[in-house]
Amino acid sequence: MVIDKIRSHHNNDPIEIIGIILDNGFEVSKGLVYSIDDTTVLKRIPLYCDPIEAVARVNNVVPGFIKYYEVKSDTQIDLYLTRYKGIHPRPNSGITDKQHALKVLDACINFVKKAKPNTHNDFSGGNILLDGEHIHFIDLDQLFNDYKDTISVKEYYFSMNWLHRYMEFTEFEKIWSNHF
Ligand SMILES: Nc1ncnc2c1ncn2[C@@H]1O[C@H](COP(=O)(O)OP(=O)(O)OP(=O)(O)O)[C@@H](O)[C@H]1O
Ligand SMILES: [Mg+2]
Repeated sequence: MVIDKIRSHHNNDPIEIIGIILDNGFEVSKGLVYSIDDTTVLKRIPLYCDPIEAVARVNNVVPGFIKYYEVKSDTQIDLYLTRYKGIHPRPNSGITDKQHALKVLDACINFVKKAKPNTHNDFSGGNILLDGEHIHFIDLDQLFNDYKDTISVKEYYFSMNWLHRYMEFTEFEKIWSNHF
């Protein structure tokens, strides 16, 4: 079992622990994710739209994120994704200080701008990987599925669970309204 592998691992380095989990694969709410090798993750998700357009939509925002894909059936697709290294920002870890939190927030704002006219509204820690200076956004299912609904500033704030410790909603709203 994966939990035994984690327990018997020789250290607690979060990057190595994430690697063990990914190497074993796990189910996500709508499909599954597992690593193929150090550079590639497979994500199997439901298919609701034209795959060629969907892949282009994602790769236009994050060039090269979907390396290749296989349509498995009318309702399922395997996406072979660039695998990023790093750790997820969490409410009590991953973010070093307010300045760092502001930097990650800025990257989220830029991502929202880049994704337009699509909506990307899930900036929870599990969808972000921090690797030194690099900030990666993963889980681009909304972009893939051509999601365009408008969401409130509050919903954006609530998805950023790693930010709450450093910033109240009122401050967030001010920053957000300077951009949108
Ligand atoms: N491209 C990637 N590079 C590195 N790790 C990844 C990548 N894609 C997914 N992962 C890892 O797998 C986890 C789940 O993937 P993802 O966020 O895409 O699934 P999900 O659709 O959010 O699933 P759920 O809806 O159950 O949360 C991520 O939090 C991350 O740890
Ligand atoms: Mg996710």
